[in-house]
Parts: sequence; structure tokens; C-alpha cells
Amino acid sequence: MAQNKEQWGSRIGLILAMAGNAVGLGNFLRFPVKAVENGGGAFIIPYLVCFLLMGIPLLWIEWSMGRFGGRFGHHSTPFIMASMDPSRQFWKYIGVFGIFTNIGVAAYYCYIESWTLSYVVHSIKRSFAGLSQLEVAQFFNDYVGMRESALGLPYEAVVFYILCLLLNTYILSQGLSGVEKVAKVGMPLLILFGFFLAFRGLTLGTSGASPEVPHANAWDGINFLWTPQYDSLLNPKVWLEAAGQIFFTLSVGMGTVHCYASYLNRYDDIALNSVSAGFTNEFVEVVLGSSIVIPIAAGYLGLDWVRENAGFGMAFQTMPYLFEKWGPGLAVAGGVMWFGLLFFAGITSSLAMGTPWMGFMHDEYGWNRQKAAWSFGAITLLMGLPTVFFFEYGVFDEYDQWAGTFSLVVFALFEVILFSWVFGVDKGWKELTTGADIHLPTMYKFVLRYITPLLLLFVFVGSVFKPLNNDWQGAFYALASGDGWPLDNGSLLRMISNAGLHEQIQTASTPEMRAHLEKKLQFTNLARILLLGLFIFIALLVRKAYYRNHRKSLLQV
Ligand code: PHE
Repeated sequence: MAQNKEQWGSRIGLILAMAGNAVGLGNFLRFPVKAVENGGGAFIIPYLVCFLLMGIPLLWIEWSMGRFGGRFGHHSTPFIMASMDPSRQFWKYIGVFGIFTNIGVAAYYCYIESWTLSYVVHSIKRSFAGLSQLEVAQFFNDYVGMRESALGLPYEAVVFYILCLLLNTYILSQGLSGVEKVAKVGMPLLILFGFFLAFRGLTLGTSGASPEVPHANAWDGINFLWTPQYDSLLNPKVWLEAAGQIFFTLSVGMGTVHCYASYLNRYDDIALNSVSAGFTNEFVEVVLGSSIVIPIAAGYLGLDWVRENAGFGMAFQTMPYLFEKWGPGLAVAGGVMWFGLLFFAGITSSLAMGTPWMGFMHDEYGWNRQKAAWSFGAITLLMGLPTVFFFEYGVFDEYDQWAGTFSLVVFALFEVILFSWVFGVDKGWKELTTGADIHLPTMYKFVLRYITPLLLLFVFVGSVFKPLNNDWQGAFYALASGDGWPLDNGSLLRMISNAGLHEQIQTASTPEMRAHLEKKLQFTNLARILLLGLFIFIALLVRKAYYRNHRKSLLQV
């Protein structure tokens, strides 16, 4: 095995890098949309409960696992997990998830990141000046559909995607210190831009209301998000969505946290550092993330519009149009800050996604930084180009579904079992509190052992058996009256067979629609084959590494 002597430069650098890992597009694009879709204030309580009972415990588990594995020279999950339970052979294959999800997610995540880069340029060039709301929305559709480009570039989306990957790869090739530098510049700028835009969101009030939407008020957006509604506490759908958001936003269940933590020393604090990074993420998400898109959109277009149109396109399809209302100077500033903020949020996360692969190839195959970084770039490009070219056929969504959502839950479930039950919660607690700069409530041992695993199990079962239209009450009712459990097309069980798509094809009203859906089916399958291929490829590398580097040493134990 190759020795890896890399270390974090400073504590603040580590916290900023970890916070940068967590703070991402999810905080500004996914959170507000999820909150609106799940009834605003109805979402917040389950969300915070999931943060405390699932998010924080998972952060502790992953930081502990990472630092523990780092002691034996492991910087990625396959052999970190193996080192925690040397008597069993299969953990290293579970650990494959911790490299696989990163490449799978980076492939489409860098695509969104590249939009933000291009939109910074378009904001400076004032490409949106004078366009109607519809035209700004269409601009985005043309961009991802790779129709004509306002910059006059053929295939602008591809150009920016490749640029963005090159940038990521170059920074990664500089090692941890490169990642740390980007976090030290990017995070403060992001927070600065965030404050500026949030200030605008919070002070807009009714001043943006035009004659067409006389009742528009930015405060409606804020109130909608912050008026708690207790009845939602009984709705499993809201809980599942809240848990899903906690996963994505904290980057847990991915393998990146383990990797970053593996570069710590044995007695470095992890208890306080993990909480600091986690709370920084929550601050950015809950305070800044909810004070920008929703209030600004509600202030100009009204809350009803926001509720009907909440979606991830709002950021690209609507915001540039609204910034134009600020007058030429501020329109540029608004656009640069908004897309610049998204870009920094994105890049500090996508860099994290490169590190598990690099750590693995260095530890097990002795690859240097250059080789490890450029190979990551190449694999990500190969996996990512289909999301760019076939965006409209759902490749992107398919990656998000399998690599970015479902895998995280599966992996987290295994982790918590390994940590709390196999390694043992007492030993785990000792690992976590070694070198700790704060005293952790011992009550959390109970949470780690019972509550977190049960919550994860609930999330897992919930996604496998998601009921029709996400209507749990209706499903239980149907079950009780002997009609069986009606499954949703988004449940894992029906997704595997593409049941929903097949139905749509059968009922397509026009031949064009049918042709489009059939193509979608093909690309959905292509996406799955690519993801499966990637998983198998990494598993084979792990297997080979095991025979090369580990078998003898493990046999001696
Ligand atoms: N947490 C990041 C976000 O909110 C996404 C991410 C997931 C980053 C997994 C790294 C690893 O956008």
C-alpha cells in the first residue's frame, strides 16, 4: 500500500472544506422547492427532527469511521469499512458505494454547476435584458436542449460542462491544499453574496408588485415557510421528504465525509468539528436558502405562482428575469451574485466527490495526484456526457434517483449497522469522543443504536413501497379494506420494471409522444446500465486491491 501523508492545513480550513462539501446546490435549489412542495411550515419540524436524530448521528458516525480508517492508511470507504470488521469479507464491497455514488452524482451535479458558470457569463453579457418571462424560461430550455446559443457557441452546454470538469480536475490535482484554498475563498464569498440577496428578499415587501399581480408580497413567501403546521407531523410523506433532504444537504451516505475525515490525526477533535460543519450547513440552508428564491419570486409573482411553479428550474428560468427588474447595474450584480453563489456552493461539493476515488487509487494502486485526479475527470466525463446530451430523455433524473437518492439510504443503513452494532456503540462512542473539544450528551448513544437505524429503515422501506400519489392515509385505508397496498410509479418496486413509463407509452395520445416516451425508456435503461457498469468496475478494482494488498495482512490478524 502507498503511504499517504497528506493532511489538512488548519482547523478552519478543514471546517470550511467540510462545510463546503455539505453546502451545495441542494441548499439553494433543492431545499426551498422541497419546503414549498411539502406545505412550507409543515416541512420545517420534520426536517429539524431529522437533522437532530439522523443527520447529526450520521455525521458523527462518518467522521469517526473516517478518522479511524485513516489511522490504517485508508482514505475511502471500502477498506475503512473492512478495517472496522476484519472478520467479514463483504464490507469492502458495501464500501464500493462510497466511491460509486460520488462519481454517479458528480456526473450530473457538475452539469448543473456548469449552468451556473454559463449563467454568470450571460448575466454579465446581459443576455436576459429585454426578454419576457417566457423568453427567459425558454432560454434555459434551449440551453439544455442544445438549440441555438446566445453566446453563438455551438453546443454551449457541452462546452461549459467540459470547462467545469476541467476546472474541478485541475483543482483536485493540487491535492487537499487546493480543495482547502477554494473553500477558504468560496465559502466566505458565498455567504456574502447570500446575505446580499437575502437582504433583498427580506426587504422587497410589496414594492415588486406590478399591476398584473397587485397582491404580490415577498413576506407571504417567508410566512409560508415559517408558520409551523403541526398536522403534517402525521404524514409519512413529509417525513420521508425531510429525511431525503437531510441526506442530500449534509452529504451523508456518500463517502465524502469519511474521506475528508481520514486525513485527520488520531487525537484531532471530531465531535465539535462535525457539529460546526453541520450547523454551518444548516444556517446556510435554513436561513439563506429560504430567504432568496421564494421571497423574491413571491414578491414579484405572488405566492400562488410560487406554489404552482415551485421547481428546480425557478433558479434558472425565473430569477434572471426578476433581476432585470432591478435596473441594468443591479441586474448584473444580482445575476453574478446569485449564479456565483451557486457556483461556489457547487464546486466545493463537486471537489469533495472527487476525493474518495483519488484516495482509493492512491492508497491501493499508488497513483499520484495527477493521475488520480485526471482519471476521475475522465470517468466523470464519460458518465456525464449522456446526462448532457440526453437530458430531455431523463438520464439526468435516473442518475439522481439511483446514485443521488436511493444509494445514500442503502449505504447509510449499512454504516449505522456497522458502527452501532458490529463495531459496537461503546467502542464507537469512544472513538468519537477521543480528542473531543466538547462534551457530547451520552443520550446520543441510545439514538445511535436505536433511533437512527429505525429512522433509516423507515426511509428505506418508504422508498421501496411508496404508496400511490404518496398518499399514505389512502394506502392504509385500501390495505385495511382488503384492496392491497397501491404502489406509486415512483416506488422502487415499480421503478425497477419501468412500470410507469410502460403505462404512459400505452396511453400516449399522439405518435410523437409515444416515440418520445419510447426513446425515454431506452435512455432510462442506458442510464441504469452505465451506473451498474460503474459499480461493477469499482467493485472489481476493490477485489483486485484486496488480493494485491490486504489478503496477507488480514490473514495474519
Ligand atoms: N450536499 C451537497 C448539496 O447540498 C451535495 C453533495 C452530496 C455533495 C454528496 C457531496 C456529496 O448540494
